Amino acid sequence: MSQSSVCAQLRAQTRIPVIGAPMFLVSGVDLVVAQCTAGIIGTFPTLNARPQEELPVWLKEIRHRLDAYRQAHPGEIVSPFGVNLIIHPSNPRWEGDLEICAEHEVPIYITSLHAPGKVVERVHQYGAAVLHDVTNAKHARKAIDAGVDGLILVSAGAGGHAGPLNPIALVNEIREFYDGPLILSGCITHGKDVLAALALGCEFGYIGTRFIVTEESMASHAYRNMILSSTSDDIVYSPFFTGVPGNYLVPSIVAAGIDPAEVRGAMVGAREVSLNRDSRPKTWKDIWGAGQGVGGIDAVLPVRALVDRMIVEYRAAKERLDAL
Ligand SMILES: Cc1cc2nc3c(=O)[nH]c(=O)nc-3n(C[C@H](O)[C@H](O)[C@H](O)COP(=O)(O)O)c2cc1C
Repeated sequence: MSQSSVCAQLRAQTRIPVIGAPMFLVSGVDLVVAQCTAGIIGTFPTLNARPQEELPVWLKEIRHRLDAYRQAHPGEIVSPFGVNLIIHPSNPRWEGDLEICAEHEVPIYITSLHAPGKVVERVHQYGAAVLHDVTNAKHARKAIDAGVDGLILVSAGAGGHAGPLNPIALVNEIREFYDGPLILSGCITHGKDVLAALALGCEFGYIGTRFIVTEESMASHAYRNMILSSTSDDIVYSPFFTGVPGNYLVPSIVAAGIDPAEVRGAMVGAREVSLNRDSRPKTWKDIWGAGQGVGGIDAVLPVRALVDRMIVEYRAAKERLDAL
């Protein structure tokens, strides 16, 4: 299938062109099912289903609940779901997870880190789509060479591991040599932000942090409340915790007894410089990831209500632009 038809197919299966981004320790079965039944693409990192034997259980449960919803609500759009595979030697599960997901004919794969050639080869056999995370043009070219169906552009300010580039610069640079589907990631929280992603030339918006603060996410109440009370001043971008630069909530760093100044000053390669291996807090579990868009998040909502609200906001923004 051509890239434009993959994209048209995915667009036709959503109520608003949004992909719920996969988030480590946050996205589970409930969040994915709520996203797909609300009419956006729902995804989760396979590593959230642990141990590995849980992965087929999750996949069956998601399918079962989506099928039941479809039967109970004929005529409603129910979006497809996807999984995220971290392709890296430090993740010994990824090839096994790929095989389990392929056996269950998962329709969408989101790949991060290494070039996804093996995933493309395996899942194109049954018509699934592969979307690859990139933060710069060099990695975009490698992913295109590997045959992906679309690129997720992770721009500055995105939650979790994020790139350093402004979204306008990143989209424009990659559009110079790629006319396939582009999905913009970073600080999208409102319906008008989705429209902005389309105005820049992307086909979808990719939303992580906003979905942490929903009733269906696996995040703790303390984590959700910290996002509700935070602004972009409370986000620090640093490679301190994992060696790869990412955005984290400063209050969670303070609560873990670490000096944020040390985190701010960390250089790439200076991973966990001052932390004792036994006593250090766990990244993602104790040190919480979030993007710079936290200031625009005002309430814990059920996913359905949030998506309905985004659609209203999107339409209002479009009308406003049309009237200008
Ligand atoms: C807590 C958290 C965990 C994340 N975990 C993953 C992950 O496991 N795999 C991945 O590809 N991206 C991960 N991301 C990145 C998101 O998929 C997405 O790129 C990002 O959240 C989008 O930016 P936003 O949070 O500003 O909306 C994570 C993001 C957050 C906030």
